[in-house]
Amino acid sequence: MIVIGGSSSKALAQDLAKELGVRYIQPNIARFPDGECYVRIEEEDIDDEAIIVQNSHPDSNLVELLLLQDAAVGLGARKITSVVPYFGYARQDERFKKGEALSAKVMVNLMEMTSKRLVTVDVHKPIVLDWFHGAAHDVHAAPSIGDFFKGHGIDLVLAPDEGAMQRAAEVGKVIGAEVDHLEKTRLSGELVRMAPKNVDAKDKNALIVDDIISTGGTIEAAANQLKIMGARSVTAVCTHGLFAKGALDRLRKCCNAVYSTNTIENDVSVISVAPQIAKAVRKQKKTNRLTDKISLRSGK
Ligand code: R5P
Repeated sequence: MIVIGGSSSKALAQDLAKELGVRYIQPNIARFPDGECYVRIEEEDIDDEAIIVQNSHPDSNLVELLLLQDAAVGLGARKITSVVPYFGYARQDERFKKGEALSAKVMVNLMEMTSKRLVTVDVHKPIVLDWFHGAAHDVHAAPSIGDFFKGHGIDLVLAPDEGAMQRAAEVGKVIGAEVDHLEKTRLSGELVRMAPKNVDAKDKNALIVDDIISTGGTIEAAANQLKIMGARSVTAVCTHGLFAKGALDRLRKCCNAVYSTNTIENDVSVISVAPQIAKAVRKQKKTNRLTDKISLRSGK
């Protein structure tokens, strides 16, 4: 097995190779003057299984992922696993209005042209993985986030809304802290209202956990509400730190600290999800071996 790191995920791919104890390959990636992507994996051949780590967001990263898959196949890779730490377009998993594209399914279809296995991290709607015909696994970042905050004095872990409670509960369990949720209403793309809720935050060190921070509107509203409730400190953490439109700078003003995992590399992506991805890769490999054995025995 070898690990190939795309340009969105070099550090994470290197961490993953270390976790798995396998060789890391850095491909040559460049852009032509007209913006088209050029990739080359400088190896004689790949007589092995290849794991390609690359986000599918923004669109330029998706193209790079598809080209890397093809380059690995061209060198003879036996099986391709695409590790897509931040799976873009997962929020458009339905045709919400007539005439819209089913974007998440389009992404899955593209990835499975050459990949037999897919691993994502906290994909926004796990149901999108059901469209993948090979083995697909969504990894939870919560164990890595929980480990990171052990010993940080966090008393209370909060989800921005009830729907995000499971993630907060997983983190709270690892830290050994209380867990609760706020009540979020999205007013517009950037504006979010947090209803005052009966959460006992007084004098507590609160940690807000979300899957994505995009504009920062959700965390900003949650942090302000927690301060009103008397929280001693407010820390925010997310799996995917997109931090659009200067969100990180704004959040630093209302939170005591902001962190994210390394699914998207940024100034605060200090929590590595490599150990969780490695577990999923090992599990998929084991399951596949079993399936291969069964197929051989039944002559299929
Ligand atoms: C929403 O369903 C997600 O879980 C996040 O809460 C949301 O994407 C965060 O977006 P923003 O940072 O723009 O409020």
